[in-house]
Amino acid sequence: MTSTRRPATGRRAAVLRREAVLATVPVAVAALLAAAGPATAGTIGQSGVGDPYFPSAGNGGYHVRHYGLTLRYDTTSRHLDGTAVLSARATQRLARFDLDLNGLKVTRLTVDGAAARFSRDGQELVVTPRHALRKGQNFRVTVTYNGTPKPVTDPDGSHDGWIPTDDGAFVAGEPQGAMTWFPANNHPRDKSSYDFTLTVPKGRTAIANGVFLGERTAHGRTTFRWRQSEPMAAYLATATVGKFKVERYTTRDGIQVYNAVDPREASAAAPVLKKLPSVLEWESRLFGPYPFRAAGSVVDRAPDVGFALETQTRPLYDSAPDLSTLVHESAHQWFGDSVSLTSWKDIWLNEGFATYAEWLYSEQHGGDSAQKSFDTLYAKPAGHELWAYPPGNPGSGANIFGTPVYARGAMALHELRKAVGDRVFVRILRTWATEHRGVHGTTAQFVRLAERESGKNLDGLFHTWLYTKGKPDKA
Ligand code: ARG
Ligand code: ZN
Repeated sequence: MTSTRRPATGRRAAVLRREAVLATVPVAVAALLAAAGPATAGTIGQSGVGDPYFPSAGNGGYHVRHYGLTLRYDTTSRHLDGTAVLSARATQRLARFDLDLNGLKVTRLTVDGAAARFSRDGQELVVTPRHALRKGQNFRVTVTYNGTPKPVTDPDGSHDGWIPTDDGAFVAGEPQGAMTWFPANNHPRDKSSYDFTLTVPKGRTAIANGVFLGERTAHGRTTFRWRQSEPMAAYLATATVGKFKVERYTTRDGIQVYNAVDPREASAAAPVLKKLPSVLEWESRLFGPYPFRAAGSVVDRAPDVGFALETQTRPLYDSAPDLSTLVHESAHQWFGDSVSLTSWKDIWLNEGFATYAEWLYSEQHGGDSAQKSFDTLYAKPAGHELWAYPPGNPGSGANIFGTPVYARGAMALHELRKAVGDRVFVRILRTWATEHRGVHGTTAQFVRLAERESGKNLDGLFHTWLYTKGKPDKA
């Protein structure tokens, strides 16, 4: 690592601060000056997008329009060979820029066909193209790489990314894991279309996002092709590999469904997966048209994962899901996948909404009312983990998947519903999904939209339920 390369953030900043105290001060000062030096100012892509919880996530200076990922995975040796072709556009003049890649060995890297210099620094793959890229220039980066992918450990201790299983790999990237298997602009602020060409040993299936384009077997290997044409954040990409039973059909609404189920989970999963079309129809009636042309599920057996993920178009389950989990991951297709975060701090816009969808589903299908779900939670004493931090400001990456984000996030929506009435509440959810379809949304934008649609001042309500520490007083 050379600390002179770019502005200090995160761990790098901590290292620099320590150096400033412990090492010879002039060296550290020189490093800091060089990092901000005029020779490179304005032409170096930032090493992160500026997310306070994940300072190295994503990169500045360009937008990836499309990823073409060609991967070959050997389920016995666990070796991955990859070629990633990124079609990007420079948003500033770029003498140098970063990609995110964690582990793996890069053997060749070209920019517009010309070999480019590159180096590694933690999760940053630092690229110096032969010629600086002009602002607005379209360019193509081709990265050839290989190795044994390993999951990353998240601040909350969970693993994400390429997670080996007994028959393949469970590939789930929220929030950071995409970079464990392909070089990416690894932050939901950058959304792209994807093509996948995945080669695995014959007898295994490789499942990615979007529409299934076909499979071909030759020389003991099968290649699966997939296309995700609607914009997708990198963390929602998958290339899950295993022995799967596959089921394909098209719904009444013309959505192409592809379900892949580990045979050991098949009998438990069947009654729940059968409900997928009716769940998507119910959610479409509430939230507006389903945002993608493909859907489905991957039900794996991955006992050490411990979570499901709303992988775009095709949620991933680490074992047969129950119905409310299916409802939850399906609701994320609108809230989280189609409408993306700009900052991980806003995670309640994903998890609070998907949880509230579970409550509404239950209410409308003979289960507990949303009010009952709310009351059960509200009865938790002030010292309960539910009240440990406010969902609109979880405080760190370690808290983004905690109970307050899911449960108190849903409680905030329930309070909104009571304040504006059912009709306006549903209009707010639907307008949110429609106006931000395929792009991004922030909490501030949601609050403004709710106020606009209801004609009410809701600052107090959101302040109390999203931002106030401790158990709120009942409204
Ligand atoms: N978004 C997932 C859900 O539907 C949870 C992902 C948790 N990921 C993690 N690394 N802990 O709830
Ligand atoms: Zn969720």
